[in-house]
Amino acid sequence: MIGPSKLSDDARILGIESSCDETAASVVTPTGAVLSSVIASQEAFHAQFGGVVPEIASRRHAEVITAVVEEALRDARTEPSTLSLIAVTNGPGLVGSLVVGAAAAKAYALAWNLPVVAVNHVEAHFHAAFLHDPAAKPPDVAFPILCLIVSGGHTDLIFVSAPGEYELLGCTRDDAAGEALDKVARLLGLGFPGGPAVERAATEGSARAFPLPMPNVPGLDFSFAGLKSALARHVESRGVLDPSEVPGLAASFQETVMRTLWLRTLDAVKVRRPATLVVAGGVAANARLKQVFAEGSASLGLPLIVPPPTFCTDNAAMVALCGAAVFQRRGPDPTDFDVFSALPSPGERADT
Ligand code: KG4
Ligand code: ZN
Repeated sequence: MIGPSKLSDDARILGIESSCDETAASVVTPTGAVLSSVIASQEAFHAQFGGVVPEIASRRHAEVITAVVEEALRDARTEPSTLSLIAVTNGPGLVGSLVVGAAAAKAYALAWNLPVVAVNHVEAHFHAAFLHDPAAKPPDVAFPILCLIVSGGHTDLIFVSAPGEYELLGCTRDDAAGEALDKVARLLGLGFPGGPAVERAATEGSARAFPLPMPNVPGLDFSFAGLKSALARHVESRGVLDPSEVPGLAASFQETVMRTLWLRTLDAVKVRRPATLVVAGGVAANARLKQVFAEGSASLGLPLIVPPPTFCTDNAAMVALCGAAVFQRRGPDPTDFDVFSALPSPGERADT
């Protein structure tokens, strides 16, 4: 290991993301200016199967990854010779998908004689909070930060006392929030991807249509499986669901999930007294989540950062910026690094 390495503020980092069903590449600076961000979604290829098919995902990544990287460099008017670093997600995610991004990053690093760093996808989601338009100043994000990552695979409450200093305070004991939304979308016949489909259906319904019990979990953990089962039992009891009931069920479920996320975050705020609250990950693209958190944090006078929706869902700009931080903290990785379907969340203790 070479150890901590410096990057100048105007250095350019190429980020590559392929952990699930988005092939993405981006060029950012170490201060988070996004010079380009290209995302090739595979949504249409998986929709007919009602979820991500791993074999299709990896094939599709392999088909488009070089074109996506070339487009990101072109959009950023960046030649490979002016890059300083390549960053790539190496987990958690679908192994066959991760391998494509990792192999591409290693090949580019060797061909262009650049250092490479492997990045944890959950840590990358946190870095979306620092991304900004090159014409704007970097956002002022004061530490300590309480960060909620809500995605398809994770519901993690992470305390970030200083850059790179993480402590996992709580996580889900069963389904992640996004996973529960995806399953409920399927139950309600709303299709894939589920979170946006539930959000769309909910706009037509009342959150009071179907009262759901708030999950009762000790400590700072979450649970969404009980909520999902309550809704499943209701749908089963109906036999055939009347389509007019769907918007109310979607709105009720969405509301209970967002309120649960806020109330648990509030518990952590009271204990840890952060200077900033960050919410990121795919579910943070939800407008109702943003509203609930904006109202709650405003009543506490607590600054809140929810990245724009395109930087909440999977993207490579967050990977590139996270890579810059990791590189400056611990230096480059050897080019034989592996990929992992599961990885500890940032700040997760070895004994948990
Ligand atoms: O971060 P992400 O793109 O991928 C993972 O790392 O998992 O998150 C995907 C999750 C999916 O469960 C998807 O249904 C959910 O985020 N999601 C949403 C919205 N957009 C994506 N959930 C609620 N409302 C949305 N607008
Ligand atoms: Zn993600």
